[in-house]
Amino acid sequence: MNGLAGRVAIVSGSGNGIGRAAALKLASAGAAVVINDLDPAAAQAVADEIVAGGGRALACAGNVVEPGFAERFVAAAIDGLGGLDIIVNNAGYARHGMVQNTPDELFDAMIDVHLTAPFRLLRAAAPFIRSAAKREAAAGGGHHRKVVNVSSGSIRGAIGHSGYAAGKMGLVGLTNVIASEWGPSRVNVNAVAFGLIRTRMNAPLAEGETRNETVLGAPVVMGMTPERFADVESRNHFGRAGTPEEAAGAIYLFCTPESDFITGQLIYVSG
Ligand SMILES: NC(=O)c1ccc[n+]([C@@H]2O[C@H](COP(=O)([O-])OP(=O)(O)OC[C@H]3O[C@@H](n4cnc5c(N)ncnc54)[C@H](O)[C@@H]3O)[C@@H](O)[C@H]2O)c1
Repeated sequence: MNGLAGRVAIVSGSGNGIGRAAALKLASAGAAVVINDLDPAAAQAVADEIVAGGGRALACAGNVVEPGFAERFVAAAIDGLGGLDIIVNNAGYARHGMVQNTPDELFDAMIDVHLTAPFRLLRAAAPFIRSAAKREAAAGGGHHRKVVNVSSGSIRGAIGHSGYAAGKMGLVGLTNVIASEWGPSRVNVNAVAFGLIRTRMNAPLAEGETRNETVLGAPVVMGMTPERFADVESRNHFGRAGTPEEAAGAIYLFCTPESDFITGQLIYVSG
């Protein structure tokens, strides 16, 4: 399976979970991948895993929200791996609160990571993508490039997720606009809205376990009680959570040449 041979991908937040599985899947199809994460060790470990398997990868650790990061991430692909064909906006985390308990700082942090950072990354990639497409068309060749934006089923109205869902819904609007703007450059821009996927973000907590972390200086509650997890699982047609590999499979579908005529779409990947 090497349908993505010669392609270069960047996947934000690919040190863990869905992003990691997507990076490994793209690499297994022949793509070279730039791995990003807030956690430099996690990013390096995934890059090392790809290289150990015979692929091409490098790590570009950093916070996607930080000004200037997007330009550095794009440059890592172009200068380090020789191009840029696939962009996966995946990095994210969830901070919750009922609307009356949501300070500006929490709401803004969710918009920053889920909407502003993807916008900045696409803006930073635009000059390269537009000029590469022009050059390739003039030479009578080229291929479709791909953007996959990771949204969430929470946009349907998950309680306590005002900032998170607003960012993830905004990302759907951004998907549609960039699909329109980049169609002439032969770029497919789609979004995947995941339902319950079993990652450290929400996997059930063992008796007495807490999985709280500090992300960018703020407390983030990870994990669900087993009862809540089972309740959410029971609401889809398969009665179970998806795996990171199943989530990555949907991202991969939008990166393949087989999806070259699909753009501006939002697909629910939720069982
Ligand atoms: N797991 C689910 O059920 C689910 C459902 C819907 C949407 N999502 C979305 O899928 C994406 C991946 O989530 P996951 O479940 O794999 O979580 P995860 O916590 O396993 O992985 C997310 C990774 O992103 C990184 N990250 C977070 N903020 C970052 C930042 N500012 N800069 C760089 N890296 C950052 C984290 O360090 C982590 O390694 C997120 O956007 C999330 O909102 C997940």
